[in-house]
Amino acid sequence: MIVVPGPASTELGRRVATLLGARMVPVSFKRFPDGESYVRFMGEVEGEVVAIVQTTSPPQNERLIQLLLMADNAKDMGAKSVIAVVPYLAYARQDRRFLPGEAFSLKTVVRLLQCCGVDELITVNVHNPTVLRSLQIPFRDLSAIGVLAQHLMNKGLQGAFSISLGKKGLEMAREAHNILRGGYGYIQTRRDRVTGEVSIEEKPLPIHGRDVIIFDDIISSGGTMAKAVRWAKDQGARRVYAACVHPLLAPGAMERILESGAEGVVGTDCVPSPVSRVSVAPLIAEALGERKGRLE
Ligand code: R5P
Repeated sequence: MIVVPGPASTELGRRVATLLGARMVPVSFKRFPDGESYVRFMGEVEGEVVAIVQTTSPPQNERLIQLLLMADNAKDMGAKSVIAVVPYLAYARQDRRFLPGEAFSLKTVVRLLQCCGVDELITVNVHNPTVLRSLQIPFRDLSAIGVLAQHLMNKGLQGAFSISLGKKGLEMAREAHNILRGGYGYIQTRRDRVTGEVSIEEKPLPIHGRDVIIFDDIISSGGTMAKAVRWAKDQGARRVYAACVHPLLAPGAMERILESGAEGVVGTDCVPSPVSRVSVAPLIAEALGERKGRLE
């Protein structure tokens, strides 16, 4: 197996290759003056299973096109098969037609990946694994909640109460609780499809006087997390921390969350950011290692 660290995940891809003990083919890339992307593999991939590591966090469109160029290029250069390791999968939140006439963006992205030769997809805490599974691309979704919870435990938060946003995400809180052992629950958030406004459904949780960690897959504008943090503080929580797998952190997001009363924000290197203190490289290397084991 060969690991190709894409331009958006150079560091993560290198770490994965090292942990896996796999050969790495670096990618030379540039942006032309008109904005178009260029990629070139600096090594051969013929006859090999190629794992391309490329997140598609902002600028999503550019990173997505780089991924498509790399996948198609790998096949053109004779790769036996292509695994796209996409820690953050762009457009995954538009996982249906919420309003008439809207594009089903996730489906389009999956079709593009398949057209460009991607045989398998590996994601990390993708927004809706059920919908992705229904799109019939062989895929595996890894969970970074365990490594996030372990990091927080090492920071002294053992026994903190774990909260997820939405019942759908309850598994995240349960996974964190398995490490932190402080109990878990969820708060229901609702987003108005037209205004984008997020509201929180009143539902008491036993967090008065407790340390609380709120887990979400994504922090983008920070609006959802800020509302949840404020809600937890209003319920009498002692210290509240925000944890997410994909810290997209649009401008103002950190300020919004900290102003709402959070002690801190932590994320993973699925999306490189100033709060990406937890690496998912061991998770990805393990998943690829299992795949590699099956090949040998
Ligand atoms: C929504 O379904 C996701 O799980 C996140 O809660 C959402 O994407 C966060 O977005 P924002 O930070 O813009 O509120």
